[in-house]
Amino acid sequence: MGFPKDFLWGGATAANQCEGGYRDGGRGLANVDVVPAGPDRFPVIAGQKKMFNFDEDHFYPAQEAIDMYHRYKEDIALFGEMGFKTYRLSIAWSRIFPKGDEETPNEEGLKFYEDVFKECHKHGIEPLVTITHFDCPMHLIEKYGAWRSRELIIFYERLCRTIFSRYKGLVKYWLTFNEINMILHAPFMGAGLYFEPGENQEQVKYQAAHHELVASALATKIAHEIDPENKVGCMLAAGNYYPYMPKPADVWEGMQQDRENYFFIDVQARGKYPNYALKEMARKGIQLVMAKGDEELLAAHPVDFVSFSYYSSRVATTDPDELAKTAGNIFASVKNPYLEASEWGWQIDPLGLRITMNALYDRYQKPLFIVENGLGAVDTPDEKGYVADDYRIDYLAAHIQAMDDAITEDGVELLGYTTWGCIDLVSAGTGEMKKRYGFIYVDRNNDGQGTLKRSKKKSFNWYQKVIATNGADLSND
Ligand code: BG6
Repeated sequence: MGFPKDFLWGGATAANQCEGGYRDGGRGLANVDVVPAGPDRFPVIAGQKKMFNFDEDHFYPAQEAIDMYHRYKEDIALFGEMGFKTYRLSIAWSRIFPKGDEETPNEEGLKFYEDVFKECHKHGIEPLVTITHFDCPMHLIEKYGAWRSRELIIFYERLCRTIFSRYKGLVKYWLTFNEINMILHAPFMGAGLYFEPGENQEQVKYQAAHHELVASALATKIAHEIDPENKVGCMLAAGNYYPYMPKPADVWEGMQQDRENYFFIDVQARGKYPNYALKEMARKGIQLVMAKGDEELLAAHPVDFVSFSYYSSRVATTDPDELAKTAGNIFASVKNPYLEASEWGWQIDPLGLRITMNALYDRYQKPLFIVENGLGAVDTPDEKGYVADDYRIDYLAAHIQAMDDAITEDGVELLGYTTWGCIDLVSAGTGEMKKRYGFIYVDRNNDGQGTLKRSKKKSFNWYQKVIATNGADLSND
């Protein structure tokens, strides 16, 4: 059987990691701009260190990124050449509403994305738009405390109404919040939350999450009202937990960790707070403030599809010795002794993708969309900028095969697949350029030096063939 004939093959990026042009076209400042590269990055994205302004001692990779703001035509043409059916990109909120709480949008920002979407269609590419991919205008952070304040729902609603109306007919696939569960792990990057000393951080995170969940349901409602053709998805940083040992306590721990992530999607896809989450919040002393009508809104406007990123499975244990050896990315997980890992320690598990797809489909019975997957690796180009990235081809081929198995053998419904960072871009976790995911090499290094010239890697032609054969030929020759 294989992939359905209208399967949406493509690639994914996020505004803050590729656009640059952070002051161009009337754009306002956002949290993602002031996050530095280097050792201060993690405490800042975790909301533990306050750096709301630029300083001379740090480098801020989002300011210029890969300059896609000025080069999008060339980049989209390359995506078209690969045969992309879809291109996932995000809107920078502060291009449309520079401060976030204005009544009137910034026409230059609106026009920019209109041109980008038109360019996509010129190449037969359907845009898939993330409304917020980690960005929040700085003014909303400084004046309202970002998503901890219910007023953010009003500003987000305004953003949604504006873009759904303006881009009607140009965009029909929307994602409300990128990796909504990231609010628990990287609250400043994910939701603009900075914690004051002594604050009850769990309370703030879950209250902010409630505001995002309401905003997401509202966005779904409005999207359908403005154009019944619109399809709205939620977005989860996915990857199922395995128990480290067959000990019931490890299995139980894995279930708890999965639920911490599922919680968001349970609300967005099933329309209500699950009992286990209400119990856990009560145990933690979290008191959610809900407004009249919130529960009805959540129930009435579940998402149309469930999208997710998948890089790796995860491992849960209660064993303190194993816990001490956790692999160091944003989602702490115990190391799986059966899996190899990328140069950044992210473990590689294609079967884990099939497991995750089945788990999500069993739970929600809604079409899935894989909107991020890929291998961050060090690429060494030759003098023409060519990279023989067989390791990336191997990684992607194995994951595409796992998707095929989930569709063909298990009957999972999958709308499409967009690989992460289809063109090299700035890493969200580390701020590096060196951690590359692309089919297209960009000449720029970690310090921001380089010509920004684009060149095709070996995987460019390979992915072109994969798309042309609708996933039937994954061979690397
Ligand atoms: C996801 C994000 O968490 O993973 C992306 O949605 C991010 O923005 C991607 O870039 C890969 O992570 P990293 O840290 O390698 O850039």
